[in-house]
Amino acid sequence: MNKKEVSDGIYALSMNVDNIVFENMWDLPNGVSLNSYIVKGKDVAIIDGVIGWDGIPETLYKNLDEIGIKLEDIKYLVVNHVEMDHSGWIENFKKITKDFTIVATKKAEDMIKAFYGDDLEIKVVKDGDSIDLGNGKVLEFYATPNVHWPETMMTYEVSSKSLFPCDLYGTFGQVEAHLFDDELTPEEKAMYDIEGIRYYSNVMMTYAAMVKKAIVKTRTLDINYVLPGHGILFRSNPNQIIDDYERWSDYTNGSGKKQVTILWGSMYGSTEKMVNFSKQIIEDRGFAVKTVELPKDTQSDVLTKSLDSSAIIVAAPTYEYKMFPPVAHALDEIGRKRMTGKKTLYFGSAGWIGGAKRDFENIIESSKMNWEIIDAIEFIGNARENAYEQIEDAINRLLDSVE
Ligand code: FEO
Repeated sequence: MNKKEVSDGIYALSMNVDNIVFENMWDLPNGVSLNSYIVKGKDVAIIDGVIGWDGIPETLYKNLDEIGIKLEDIKYLVVNHVEMDHSGWIENFKKITKDFTIVATKKAEDMIKAFYGDDLEIKVVKDGDSIDLGNGKVLEFYATPNVHWPETMMTYEVSSKSLFPCDLYGTFGQVEAHLFDDELTPEEKAMYDIEGIRYYSNVMMTYAAMVKKAIVKTRTLDINYVLPGHGILFRSNPNQIIDDYERWSDYTNGSGKKQVTILWGSMYGSTEKMVNFSKQIIEDRGFAVKTVELPKDTQSDVLTKSLDSSAIIVAAPTYEYKMFPPVAHALDEIGRKRMTGKKTLYFGSAGWIGGAKRDFENIIESSKMNWEIIDAIEFIGNARENAYEQIEDAINRLLDSVE
C-alpha cells in the first residue's frame, strides 16, 4: 500500500492489484491501482475506500495510526460509486465498527442496502449538498449518473480544491513510488497514456454521452487536484486528464487521429498477405497504422487500439459462411461499446463461396454503429491481381475520407 499526503489533512492510500482480469473481463498487462482517500477535519471521512480489500482490519489500523487517526475518529464513508472494487470493503469495515455514516446518492443507497444489508446508516446527498467536517474541511457532492453505473457522484473538498471523481478520470496501470503526474518518468508517462485510453475504452466508453455531461459539471469547479479511484493523481496539470477524457469521448463518436486500425485474423495466410499489403499503402500515405491480430490479441486491445483511429479496416476470411469468429466477436464488442461514426472497409478471403462480407455489414447495421462503409471486398482463394487493385483503390478512398 502506497500512502501519501496530498495536501494538508488529505491523504491518498493506493493499493496495486495484479493478476486480475478487470471486471472479470478485461486483461490488464500493467495491472491497476485502487485508490482511496482520507480527509481529516475535526471529523474524518474516508472516500472510495479500498482499505481492507485484503479483508484484514490490521491494514486499516496500521495506515490510520501512521497518519494519526483513530478508528473512532472516522465519521463518514463517502461512497462515490458502489461497484465492489470501491465498496467491497464495507463488508469488513462493519465487522470492526458500526459507528459511521455512509454518504451516497439515493440510487446508491438502494444498491448499498442490496449488497451490504439494511443495518447501515446512510446519508443521502443530492447535487450541491455539502458536509462540514470542521477545521476548514468541507465536502461537496455532485451527481454524475451513469459514469458508468447509475448511482455515481463526485466529491469535492472546498479548501484544497480537491476533486474525488472515483472511476471518472481513472487510468489503468499500477502505481509505484510515483503517484503524482509530475513525478512520472517519460517511460511511466508513456505507459499511463496507453493505460488511460485502455481504461476509458474498456470501462467508460459505452457512456460517452454521460461522461461528457460529467466533464461539463467538472469544469464548473476550481480544481487543484484530481484524485481518481484508479491510477495516477493529477496536481501539476489537473486539466490534462479532463481534456484527455473529453478527447476520448469525441473519439467514441467518430473523430480520431490520422491513423488506421486494422482488426484482422487469418487462418492460412491469404488474408494476412493482404493486411501486409494494406499497411504499406497506408504508411506511404503518411497515416499511422495500428494492428490488432485476432484471436492472439485481446478484446481489451481491440477497444484500446481502435478508439483513437479515424478509420478501421476489418480483414478476415469467411468461416462457415460467416466472418472468421474472432474478428466478428471483436467487431461486435466495438458495437456493444457504442463506438460510432468511424469510416470502415472490409476485405478478406472468401474461401470458395464467401459470407464474411454480409456478416460484416450485418454487425455494423444491427449494432447501430453508424459506420460509413467505404467498400467491402471478398476474393476467392488467394488474392489475384484484380483484388490487389480493388483493395488499393478502396484503401485510398478510405484515407481520402478521413484526411
Ligand atoms: Fe472502479 Fe466502476 O469501479
